Amino acid sequence: MTETLLPVPDGIARAARLLAAGELVAFPTETVYGLGGDARDGRAVAGIFAAKGRPSFNPLIVHVPDLAAARRLADFPEPALRLAAAFWPGPLTLVLPLRNGAGLSPLVSAGLPSVALRVPAHPVAQALLTAFGGPLAAPSANPSGRVSPTRAAHVLAGLEGRIAAVINGGACAVGLESTIIGFGGIGLNGGPTLLRPGGLPAEAIEECLGQPLGRPAPDPHRPTAPGQLDSHYAPAAALRLEAAEPDKGEIWLAFGPAAPGAALNLSPTGDLVEAAANLFHYLREADRLVGPAGRIAVSPVPDHGLGRAINDRLRRAAAPRG
Ligand code: TXA
Ligand code: MG
Repeated sequence: MTETLLPVPDGIARAARLLAAGELVAFPTETVYGLGGDARDGRAVAGIFAAKGRPSFNPLIVHVPDLAAARRLADFPEPALRLAAAFWPGPLTLVLPLRNGAGLSPLVSAGLPSVALRVPAHPVAQALLTAFGGPLAAPSANPSGRVSPTRAAHVLAGLEGRIAAVINGGACAVGLESTIIGFGGIGLNGGPTLLRPGGLPAEAIEECLGQPLGRPAPDPHRPTAPGQLDSHYAPAAALRLEAAEPDKGEIWLAFGPAAPGAALNLSPTGDLVEAAANLFHYLREADRLVGPAGRIAVSPVPDHGLGRAINDRLRRAAAPRG
């Protein structure tokens, strides 16, 4: 029922036509696969929430082809412009004050006066945005609360029959969702704030800004990013973190050279970029190998650079299930 399209001009044109008709199309980005719908069309946006089974208080990221398109939708304070110049296109999302008359469905931002914007670098995402000619709301293309998809097959495993099409662009190079930075607005204290660690290391952002990033005050009743929801990015099996080695009956999701015999190693050389790219696929593999009643033992991962985002996702995957 869900069409698989090739990342060639015909496939992109077909995807753009489906989107223009209000249908949902999953597409590759350099972070994870996104579930795209016309961000100006309330019916399409509602369809995204329905297909994902996502709680409607959780707003969506809007994807645009470049900074010029982004500036038509939101107001950019000077530090936001500096980040956009340095890191767009790329794995960075900026939450900014929504402009009057931006034309987005209010459902996209869940009624908030702000909007999350991202310019993806993946050539297929860029080609799709150009062919479609409008902003695309696109959360990760997985059922809410499950592991994000880094391959077209992951998208189909979760959403087959619930969306019109997926463009198969192979494996995602970064493998972690974008880093989200907030500027002003609800729950933020004025300065740039790290709302979600992700595919762009926070250290690189702080260096570009010349100041440390703030952290949002946690408020369980008003999540500002999935970071504040427990049990996110969860596989079916239970996880045990910081494991030196597996116990009997566990499957070992290892990191680094000191793991002989591990069935799955995020990066045998201890490379955090490689580990990020492998994380979600290996969580799925571990799940499949050990079964839903089993347990996954995960080696410690250094908590700097992309390791901070990897550890964030692992903590969420290990959190008690709601
Ligand atoms: O890498 C990514 O960011 C992927 C790819 C597809 O681009 N997208 C993605 O989107 O991860 P999503 O919807 O799964 O996560 C976006 C998060 C939301 O959960 C939400 O909490 C936060 O961004 N967000 C969106 N709009 C916001 C707003 N106005 N204020 C605060 N947070 C917002
Ligand atoms: Mg997601």
